[in-house]
Amino acid sequence: MALSASQIEQFESDGYLVVEQYYTPEEVDKLKKEMAWILEGSMDQLCSMSGVFNAEVEDGKQNSDKYFLESGDKVRFFYEDVKEPPPRSFTGRRLSREKAPLNKVGHALHWHSTAFKRASLQHEKTKELLRSLGFVRPCICQSMYIFKRAKVGGAVRPHTDGTFLMTTGNLLGLWTPLENATIENGCLWFEPGSHRTREITSFFERTTDESSGETVMKLRHTQPPPSEEELNLVPVEMKAGDLVLIHKAVLHKSERNASDKPRDAFTFHVTETYNTQWSKLNWLQNQASPGSFSMLYDDSKLHKETK
Ligand code: FE2
Repeated sequence: MALSASQIEQFESDGYLVVEQYYTPEEVDKLKKEMAWILEGSMDQLCSMSGVFNAEVEDGKQNSDKYFLESGDKVRFFYEDVKEPPPRSFTGRRLSREKAPLNKVGHALHWHSTAFKRASLQHEKTKELLRSLGFVRPCICQSMYIFKRAKVGGAVRPHTDGTFLMTTGNLLGLWTPLENATIENGCLWFEPGSHRTREITSFFERTTDESSGETVMKLRHTQPPPSEEELNLVPVEMKAGDLVLIHKAVLHKSERNASDKPRDAFTFHVTETYNTQWSKLNWLQNQASPGSFSMLYDDSKLHKETK
């Protein structure tokens, strides 16, 4: 589905763009069923461990463990950072039965699951959309199923995706709610135009901890991040199956889910790999393994010829 000139203009102006009813109700339903199936343990072999995901971007420490750092080409499970997370080494079946407060499943659903692969890597509409935005050799670098559990699903503070995925080229987030996303249940909020008016000033970087010698992630700020009160964030409510495109430098957030219903979402990030450099400091690296940086298409030859 190629974007129209006015849609592209809107995206360039705001830094985000909602495409209504991008996925059919059947596609949405398939994704939810697929995740239920994964949680029921049919993919036990892929989920013999679990980690904790801390959505508070100020604290990179929780994300530093090996389980997280090596999840780029796998399907792994991350809990909400609650006071007493369930013990580690659960299988998928036990996760489901005990209703553990999962935060997300990632980061290579687009490769390991047929339904998620069809909705991302093999999705013809998405390829057309990326072509219309000028992507030459786009790769999916990560995909996630995000749970925003009723009352439990925590807030994600204002951030840019370029903080967590650093590249010299284009990076696009594609996010679709699998339930209607409202202010009450934690829809996304954006500061329109912030990708043009502000710079990315925070960087989530790989480094070595001096005392332990372990690889850890640290958030480096080139200037103090703006407080939330300084931002002009607007809520963007969406229907299930709508898609929002997210520029790497646009500020956005989501609040906690204050409703009594879950608000699940599927999201993936696409990065341009033609004539670009992926930062070696990113937590996520191309491991040259199946599922790692999966290519959607390669127009580089065409691009060279027409240049
Ligand atoms: Fe984000």
